[in-house]
Amino acid sequence: MLRRVLESIPAVSGKGKPRYSGENVNFSKICVVGLGYIGLPTAGTFAANGAKVVGVDVNPRVVETLQNGGVHIQEPGLRSIVAAAFQSGSLTVATKPVEADAFIIAVPTPIHPDKTADLSFVTAAAESIRPVLRKGNLVVLESTSPPRTTQDIVRPILEQSGLAAGKDFHLAYSPERVLPGRILRELIENARVIGGIDRASAEAGRDLYGMFVRGEIILTDATTAETVKLMENTYRDVNIALANEMLRLTERYGVNVWEAIAIANRHPRVEILNPGPGVGGHCISVDPWFLVESAPELTPLIRTAREVNDSQPEYVVRYLERVVGNLSGRRIAVLGLTYKADVDDIRESPSLEIVHLLDRRGAIPASFDPLAPALTLPGRRAQTPEEAADGADALLLLVGHKEIRALEPGRFIRRMAAPLAVDCLHAWDRAQWEAAGFTFFQMGDRHGRMQGSDAP
Ligand SMILES: NC(=O)c1ccc[n+]([C@@H]2O[C@H](COP(=O)([O-])OP(=O)(O)OC[C@H]3O[C@@H](n4cnc5c(N)ncnc54)[C@H](O)[C@@H]3O)[C@@H](O)[C@H]2O)c1
Repeated sequence: MLRRVLESIPAVSGKGKPRYSGENVNFSKICVVGLGYIGLPTAGTFAANGAKVVGVDVNPRVVETLQNGGVHIQEPGLRSIVAAAFQSGSLTVATKPVEADAFIIAVPTPIHPDKTADLSFVTAAAESIRPVLRKGNLVVLESTSPPRTTQDIVRPILEQSGLAAGKDFHLAYSPERVLPGRILRELIENARVIGGIDRASAEAGRDLYGMFVRGEIILTDATTAETVKLMENTYRDVNIALANEMLRLTERYGVNVWEAIAIANRHPRVEILNPGPGVGGHCISVDPWFLVESAPELTPLIRTAREVNDSQPEYVVRYLERVVGNLSGRRIAVLGLTYKADVDDIRESPSLEIVHLLDRRGAIPASFDPLAPALTLPGRRAQTPEEAADGADALLLLVGHKEIRALEPGRFIRRMAAPLAVDCLHAWDRAQWEAAGFTFFQMGDRHGRMQGSDAP
């Protein structure tokens, strides 16, 4: 069925479109532009599957770290795959693209403070490829991008080389859908969408990723592929916003939201995600804005969901005020700074916003995170959870890293000014914390319900 749908799309069916004249593109040399969470695992995986890979990053420190045998991001298995690729000579790194058979662009696509897309990294990457672009090459944009970026932004830049997309070189968009923490596995196992500016480009993309992808490879046109990625993350953002709004509602009515969601999800056609302290990361908290920017008059739901999730840190701080009282001068041990559990990525993390909000209320935060990098934040950065808890009026659980989930309440009770714990994740066991002598609050749990308005 899907195949029939896709083949009915002119850009995919390729009916009447010229195929690239030099068939059998050889992808023995691949240049991956941008060596971050996506680019480095991709480069390592291509290298492990027989390609000669040149990884390119404009950040000299990234290139230097890799050349010295280090890895600048935490991802299970990444260090060993990169080390093996360097040792065998199948991976080298550089600060500028070199001639290759295929180019993959995996650079950041953040948003400006006004929530519009910052495509400056994508344009810079395309411009850096242009001087080394040759007939027969394939260029794939992997960065999450607003609809039509491949066609309207990347294509004209590359065509300034004098080569024509679809005639002289292939051009495609292929979104990355891996889960941090499982990237190397999911790169291989996940279904991959490849959208070509024409059918030949989509097919060239299939041949490239076919070197390692074991999941289904779905061919479509470039703008559909861009839209699919944004649609997936927007779906999750709207779903989480619903969960967060349900948390606010259920607290008002004395219902345990975790129990209510678990029961609702027993319905065969309902799947509500978890509420929490907010939505962070480089994807879900950013991508929906690309759709809002492209058509604000058509996207009130998407915008509202973003606003609900963005206001969740304020909700957490108000919740804390309800259980602790006036926060001015109170010491709060903040447990977890990254945007989610068991990753070292702090981009758009709601925890950072919460620390700033605490500071603005006059509270004294002491933050602990075993994975987050060094960063400038109000208050202290503690090296251990105990150090964060020293003299604290409350423990605030924001990120469920394995180490934080497993904390024993007995480790803290004597160190704190007041034995009070606030769990925003439904991660700690109430009975265990209460048995240890803590006053325990769990956001969304009716036991922790306080009087008054819950809306931030
Ligand atoms: N991280 C994820 O889990 C994830 C998942 C799906 C999609 N994506 C998307 O993939 C893209 C890349 O994300 P990431 O998390 O790997 O970003 P990242 O910030 O971890 O890495 C990007 C790298 O690109 C480098 N860079 C920037 N401009 C460059 C240029 N002109 N030439 C060469 N290198 C350049 C940076 O120095 C950096 O090392 C983004 O569009 C993101 O939305 C990310």
